[in-house]
Amino acid sequence: MRIVFSLLMAITCCAAASAQTVNIIPQPVSVKTGKGQFTVSPSTVLVVQDEGDRKAADFLNKYLRQYYGFSLPVKKQATKNAIRFNTRKFIRKPDNDAYSFSSTPAGVSIDGDTYEGTFYGMQTLIQLLPLTKSKSLAIPAVSIQDEPRFGYRGMMLDCSRHFFDLAFVKKYIDYLALHKFNYFHWHLTDDQGWRIEIKKYPELMSKGAWRNGTVIGRYPGTGNDNEHYGGYYTQEQVKEIVQYAADRHITVVPEIEMPGHASAAITAYPDLSCFPETPTKAYYPKECAWAGDSTGKQVVQSWGVYADVFCAGKENTFKFLQDVIDEILPLFPSQYIHVGGDECPKSNWQKCAKCQQRMKENNLKDEHELQSYFIQRMEKYINEKGKTLIGWDEILEGGLAPNAWVMSWRGEKGGIEAAKQHHNVIMTPTDYVYFDYNQTKKEDSVTIGGYINLEKVYGYNPVPKELTAEEGKFIVGAQANLWTEYVTNPGKVEYMVFPRMTALSEVLWTPLEKKNWPAFEKKLKTQYKRYDRWGSDYHKEHFKATAANK
Ligand code: ACM
Ligand code: ZN
Repeated sequence: MRIVFSLLMAITCCAAASAQTVNIIPQPVSVKTGKGQFTVSPSTVLVVQDEGDRKAADFLNKYLRQYYGFSLPVKKQATKNAIRFNTRKFIRKPDNDAYSFSSTPAGVSIDGDTYEGTFYGMQTLIQLLPLTKSKSLAIPAVSIQDEPRFGYRGMMLDCSRHFFDLAFVKKYIDYLALHKFNYFHWHLTDDQGWRIEIKKYPELMSKGAWRNGTVIGRYPGTGNDNEHYGGYYTQEQVKEIVQYAADRHITVVPEIEMPGHASAAITAYPDLSCFPETPTKAYYPKECAWAGDSTGKQVVQSWGVYADVFCAGKENTFKFLQDVIDEILPLFPSQYIHVGGDECPKSNWQKCAKCQQRMKENNLKDEHELQSYFIQRMEKYINEKGKTLIGWDEILEGGLAPNAWVMSWRGEKGGIEAAKQHHNVIMTPTDYVYFDYNQTKKEDSVTIGGYINLEKVYGYNPVPKELTAEEGKFIVGAQANLWTEYVTNPGKVEYMVFPRMTALSEVLWTPLEKKNWPAFEKKLKTQYKRYDRWGSDYHKEHFKATAANK
């Protein structure tokens, strides 16, 4: 009797274990389970047709080596025990990155409509692997048809407020790849530090990349840590990141902020300010502690918005920014260049004779129109180079630049208006996808505040009801932003983005009618084990927090 009982237990237990193995996030369009399983072992061969498919094979091998301790031979053909990457060739590249995935006891085939599709199919394979380290990895027999809902699936990382080294930026890009994201928005300049080498302007690196201290604690802070802080990415390092991302089918969109959030650049080149003689300290909040030299222009040491912005009246400002763009463009193959455009106080422009003169000469009725002039002038330059400008939704004020894409962050209003004007829109509203906000009401680390829990992120639909079906097509996707005023280290980045980024991946990939919150919550338990496997930090309180917040 005992033997029968044990046998029964074993069967039940194994049935449960294999049922649990199909926990794919983002949820594919269609999953059909088959019979039996395929076992990945060191004798399994990865079959690739060409260099395009090799990216998928290389990623899989790196993953297997890192988490399971072995990798697989890559060959052009194999008769059995193979995982085949087989991107279909079309005369014209399809506009969606669909793939088919099939695993049977005989082998695995991943057939993308594009190399991207094949890469995403490989990510699905990774999610079918068991989570315990072994050299014999059984994956269930399944047949999957899949494709993304949106073409732009992004994550932003602010590397100005806090600087993250190359190794972590790569890790962040890996996280994007593992979730089938395809855009990394790299926030490279802001008031608190300039983070990209521009050879023509060396003081951006020697002065603009460093601050003499940082406020301690939540704004306005309880003091200053008096630590010299900063860093920047050399152009060689930028190229390395761009290539690393490209190998994962991720496009890096650089952001160079203008006309606001410019005080680090102004520290390097004070003439870019309307008032080069006015020290930064004069603009600095009285309640925030200051470290070191307070004369002249200084990189700021606290958070918020600063009135010392690029002067819109001087030709020199445009010469500088165009020179910067000239060095940026060859580094980033991205079609899109982000120029910020958010939170630009107009007080200096109101007082500046040169800005006022510019307004008069161009019949601009207010400083919003001057901002619009600024962005439109930069857009013209960027368009002439064959690239497309992206800006935060403030670029709508005073008139949208003709070809600009809008990132809607102050809610969805700007995005709705831009879509109605037939401009492409990336939704990134503070209400749903600001991952610097708390994810529990009981957050005990220092953060900017706010509250966006996992279910709220999961429930987000980037296409607002206010739009017609035709207008809705201008919503190209969405993105979460991680601003890093209170995110000082990689572990905190992981803690802030996980598991919300995992939820967002499903928002961006899975058809609306296939989204299912209870099913996602169930899959999350496996996802927590994946984070553990990766050695990543994450917000662990979801199940507890949802109970406590009720
Ligand atoms: C922003 O959060 N200022 C775009
Ligand atoms: Zn000015």
